[in-house]
Amino acid sequence: MPAFHRQRRAPQRPVHEVAPEPAPIPPENPWPFEEAPATAWVAAPGFEAQLLEELRLKGIHHLVPHGRLVLSSEPAQPAAWALAVWDAPLLLPAPSVKAAADGLRAIQRNWALLPAFHHRRAALIADRLPPVKAAPLAFPEAPPASHLGGWTLLSPDLILASPTTTSPFPNGEPRFVEDKEGPPSRAYLKLWEGLTRIGEHPEPGQRCMDLGASPGGWTWAIAKLGAEVEAVDKAPLDANVAAMPGVSWRQDSAFALDPEKEEPVDWLFSDVICYPARLLRLVERWIAAGKARRIFCSIKFQGGTDHEIAASFAAIPHARVFHSAHNKHELTFAWLPPAHS
Ligand SMILES: C[S@@+](CC[C@H](N)C(=O)[O-])C[C@H]1O[C@@H](n2cnc3c(N)ncnc32)[C@H](O)[C@@H]1O
Repeated sequence: MPAFHRQRRAPQRPVHEVAPEPAPIPPENPWPFEEAPATAWVAAPGFEAQLLEELRLKGIHHLVPHGRLVLSSEPAQPAAWALAVWDAPLLLPAPSVKAAADGLRAIQRNWALLPAFHHRRAALIADRLPPVKAAPLAFPEAPPASHLGGWTLLSPDLILASPTTTSPFPNGEPRFVEDKEGPPSRAYLKLWEGLTRIGEHPEPGQRCMDLGASPGGWTWAIAKLGAEVEAVDKAPLDANVAAMPGVSWRQDSAFALDPEKEEPVDWLFSDVICYPARLLRLVERWIAAGKARRIFCSIKFQGGTDHEIAASFAAIPHARVFHSAHNKHELTFAWLPPAHS
């Protein structure tokens, strides 16, 4: 018998059985300094590396990753890849579950757990805290005004807690009352989240242009607000979106448009898949032409994350560049000059 027939096969799992993920190993020394960190940035799940790299490039020292958090002894500063920033962290002893919960409650009522390690003990502490009402937002509803802190277990007997954070949502992640019927793609959720974050949205009757609009999730969301949308894409819109009042489709390339020759728009949107540098040039042309009162775009990264180009977008006066919980490997760019309203 040939040798390969005699080889014993390794026992195989049935194809439907997924190998369990190894539990993440808690760091031995989660924060090697005596003083509490001055800042903790929160990344979206899966985007921890982008946040860490961005903070390194900003020249921030003593960066200590802890699950989705990056801790530092340097003062808070904004970071595009952070969903939220904990700007007043303190260390709280947690000798028992009860003592930990009592310690948090003594500071304030509302806390959101950021799970990192020691999940079971963290859940027991969270169970002893008052529930935080985090009902999904019905867009364009305003975010909750109530005060919310963030906490995590650094080690089984040590809590890192920030009574204030830069986001009103637990761990910087808003949830929305979704519409499973109307929009033809889920991309409308990142538009809703971005508009919620900037605190503005198209108003009834405003003129909007949506570049790279097909199949029409963003166009649907904009038209639902009562605005007029010119959807620009080589591909057609979903038929139901195309039939909405105020929606028109223009079969064209976003890059073939000459902003100088376009009618002014209240909002220019773009979710076009293209290299960030190409989008930057497009945005600069629209700003230079003075034809868009506000701009809202997705900066999509292919392969690696180009932090330099993200910084170029952020350097445009009146620009905001941020990662949303509904963003994939992309950042949202919003340009809101003071004279826009
Ligand atoms: C991510 S999809 C947009 C999804 C859309 N925002 C939604 O909510 O359904 C990207 C779109 O960009 C379009 N696109 C790619 N290159 C383009 C170009 N040069 N001009 C206009 N659209 C383009 C593609 O046809 C595709 O429909």
